[in-house]
Amino acid sequence: MKFTLGAIAAVALSTAAFASEVAPDAVEYGDEGVMASLTGVAGDPVAGAATFKDRKLGNCLACHANADMSGEQFHGDVGPALDGVASRWEEPMLRAIVANSKQVFTDETVMPGFYSLKVGQHVREDLVGKTILTAQQVEDVVAYLGTLKE
Ligand code: HEC
Repeated sequence: MKFTLGAIAAVALSTAAFASEVAPDAVEYGDEGVMASLTGVAGDPVAGAATFKDRKLGNCLACHANADMSGEQFHGDVGPALDGVASRWEEPMLRAIVANSKQVFTDETVMPGFYSLKVGQHVREDLVGKTILTAQQVEDVVAYLGTLKE
């Protein structure tokens, strides 16, 4: 087989792009949550707010009321209101809850694991092996949650 220099450079670049991103099944859940950023890049709270309320992404309002988003319709009450949530949980725990709530609550929690490959039973074939949110979207949502202080 013959490699051109271009092909080798392209492979090196695509490896570098993922080097600092933790794979969903390699996230380390400790007693205090997930200590390190999933991407090594700080989360953006503005992007996180958008992901939070996007019905096709976080869809967090389906289950959680959030006074900070009182302009949005249909706040669910399946989960607790998220007002002041950053005063109840430190950032590593917020990251663990969003990435995989089952690691923090119980296996029976109805909250999806947003950065987990075990989304649930009967997953659509095209979604097998995919997470609901990307690692950076999780970091952005965590940064947004960090703004919800009492
Ligand atoms: C299908 C419903 C559902 C969705 C969607 C959902 N959650 Fe939850 N969430 C829950 C439930 C229920 C709990 C309480 C834990 C339990 O009893 O399972 C919870 C707990 C939490 C907690 C802990 C709150 C506290 O005060 O202790 C946080 C933080 C949280 N969710 C964030 C989010 C975020 C961010 C999203 C969107 C990315 C989200 N949730 C989407 C159902 C949901």
